[in-house]
Amino acid sequence: MTEPAVGLDAIEIWTGKCKLDLANTFAPARDEDPEKYTKGLGLRASSFPDTYEDIVTMGANAAKRLMDREGLTPADIGRIDVATESAFDNSKPVSTYVAGCLEQVYEGDFRHANKGERKFACVSGTQSIDDAYNWIRAGRNRGRAALVIATDTALYARGDPGEATQGAGAVAMLVDVDPSIVTLSTEQGIGSMDETDFLKPNQQFPSVDGKRSVQVYLSRMREALEDYESVAGRVGVEDFVFAPFHTPFPGMVRKAAVLAYRHVTRGTEIEDALEPEIGRQPREDDFDGRESFETNMRDYVDALSGTERYRTWYGETVEPTLGIAREVGNWYTGSVHIARVSALLAALENDRNIGGETLLVGSYGSGAQAEIHAETVREGWREGVAAADPFDRLAERHSLSFAEYEHIHDAHNHEVETEIEAFTEPNGEFIHAGWGRMNERKYEYVE
Ligand code: HMG
Repeated sequence: MTEPAVGLDAIEIWTGKCKLDLANTFAPARDEDPEKYTKGLGLRASSFPDTYEDIVTMGANAAKRLMDREGLTPADIGRIDVATESAFDNSKPVSTYVAGCLEQVYEGDFRHANKGERKFACVSGTQSIDDAYNWIRAGRNRGRAALVIATDTALYARGDPGEATQGAGAVAMLVDVDPSIVTLSTEQGIGSMDETDFLKPNQQFPSVDGKRSVQVYLSRMREALEDYESVAGRVGVEDFVFAPFHTPFPGMVRKAAVLAYRHVTRGTEIEDALEPEIGRQPREDDFDGRESFETNMRDYVDALSGTERYRTWYGETVEPTLGIAREVGNWYTGSVHIARVSALLAALENDRNIGGETLLVGSYGSGAQAEIHAETVREGWREGVAAADPFDRLAERHSLSFAEYEHIHDAHNHEVETEIEAFTEPNGEFIHAGWGRMNERKYEYVE
């Protein structure tokens, strides 16, 4: 019996409604060169939630937009999984709050939908898709689809080096059989180790060893790629049209991409073709010690990143995945999913026919685990992706002054009591409207 094709049938993006301009507002206030952010990290702006927004409103608003567009009712959804690392409740999952919001505006309810919350830093968005995929492939879905929502308010303590990489937003995804946008490969690779580089032990803002987190990202991604190759066969640079990766900031992906390119071109005709220009890749056996091997490898990778061949590949395969991230910062669990949308939107804009082509998707979560799988673009991708285009809404965000940024950061800090006015007017969306008798958050739909 042929297994049904399962994957993403629809996607919607909800951005926090405020933005912080990193070059023009953040850099001067921090007395930093704006190019550290625009060139070094590769970011122009961060998204922030307005005072009435949080992970529930952003997730529910993305989900409502998706359900309206697809003409769905609660009866069509058999599962709601929320991936987040910004949860405010250690028992009641965010998916129950989201379902409660949606039940305010739709006929019917989610009484027979399985709900949960997934945690493994940023990789849990992909893990939730995995859970939905497995649920459908196991035949337990009774013809219903799964709603997966990746939602985060990625805030760092003020003054932390991670502050420039903050962001807030949600991605809602419908996982179903015979999907319109992409199907997922059965093959997947994992690189996973107990690491202490970024964690939130019952605290809102992360403790981060930023430089180490970069190294851990690169190591786990390499292991995940090797693991993926062990089941799917060797990966070649021409095998996939785009490589959407977890993007805490675009500069991170720039580092990962050149290492991945080196890995997959080793021993291939591309390595041969580049030899006259930059030599062959160093082989460890040719060196007396690990240190001299690593120095030579660093020099090779530097030279590789300057070659025309690599730069063309990067420009076509990786750069298009970074378009949304540059404008919004790190959305943690949603980050790799906006990278996928960015790439598909770029293909749409350039009128490329990528139906049937492959994406190589690299997800990552601190603590730490990387996951790599392939996706096949479906013939119906154009319509679904055009509808998810967030750029008009990104342009409408309220641009925060530095003082306003400090207020909004305080407003979302669980330890700080603030009373500030919202910067934007809610319109046709769920808002956080106060607190209930057991300290639960209350939500309302504003017409
Ligand atoms: P930093 O110390 O502020 O920045 O921290 P830097 O001094 O390392 O500079 C950043 C880059 O800008 C460097 O580029 C500089 O050279 C360059 P690189 O050498 O690395 O290629 N630069 C400039 N470029 C042009 N003009 C200039 C200029 N000045 C500097 N004038 C750090 C950077 C990443 C450590 C910090 O932002 C941080 O701690 N971020 C948070 C942690 C993080 O994002 N880690 C990424 C990997 S872990 C991950 O992705 C998981 C995560 O999403 C969480 C989860 O899974 O839940 C974070």
